[in-house]
Amino acid sequence: MRSMAKKHTPLVAANWKMHPKSVGAAKKLFLEIRNGVKKEKRPVHVMVAPPTPFLSDLQRLSPSGSIALGAQSVFHEAQGAYTGEVSVPMLKSVGATQVIVGHSERRALGDTDTEIAQDLVAALKQNMTAILCIGEQKRDSHGHHFNIVEEQLRSAVAHIPKTKVKQMVVAYEPIWAIGTGQNATGEDIEEMRLFIQKLLSDTFGRKAADAVRVLYGGSVNKKNAADILEKTSVNGFLVGGASLRAAEFVEIVKITAEHHAKA
Ligand code: PGA
Repeated sequence: MRSMAKKHTPLVAANWKMHPKSVGAAKKLFLEIRNGVKKEKRPVHVMVAPPTPFLSDLQRLSPSGSIALGAQSVFHEAQGAYTGEVSVPMLKSVGATQVIVGHSERRALGDTDTEIAQDLVAALKQNMTAILCIGEQKRDSHGHHFNIVEEQLRSAVAHIPKTKVKQMVVAYEPIWAIGTGQNATGEDIEEMRLFIQKLLSDTFGRKAADAVRVLYGGSVNKKNAADILEKTSVNGFLVGGASLRAAEFVEIVKITAEHHAKA
């Protein structure tokens, strides 16, 4: 398993959610992250997903694309009478190359499995990298969380072409671990990672499934990142709260790059 995961350059993605308050504060935070990450010479991919209105300004701060830009959600139609929505071409025109799809906070605000599946197809078909978030509300001794994750994954990928599977990243984000300071254990994450890979393999075949990177998200910080990497074969992290603290986020990037280099 370790060697299989090793071939992927890891990804550390920042989900800023609805932070910070202004474009000025977003530029400051982005520059701090960019300057910290620049010193890291070992292979690691870094993505920042700011609130959509900040994308164009941040694009100007990362002309070389050393830090990829992402959006936190997308709507599957290209344009039209969809008040409040933003399309794939619009996001691409302001520099986003990646998009988070199906985040639990979007699901809680009403995004349905059907919409998530449509948004995922739209993003992948138009050559964006899509980070599909899946995860259970709670765990029980009956293993019901596996059914939840299976349903979410199966419905989301039901219509994606096999040729586009490699552009997908799956983030396992148990809802109870998001923003709570209580991360899932390495053992639980690794068990779920294997389960996700198995489901993908059943659907798309082993080769396509192996091309999908699996991230962990949920209270990742500089103190637990190394331990999670040590105990699992995840290909990086989706980081919320800690990504708003530049030094801490850069530290997580370094820890991930270091682990990958010596794995
Ligand atoms: P957290 O958020 O790191 O603050 O738990 C993760 C996420 O919601 O993607």
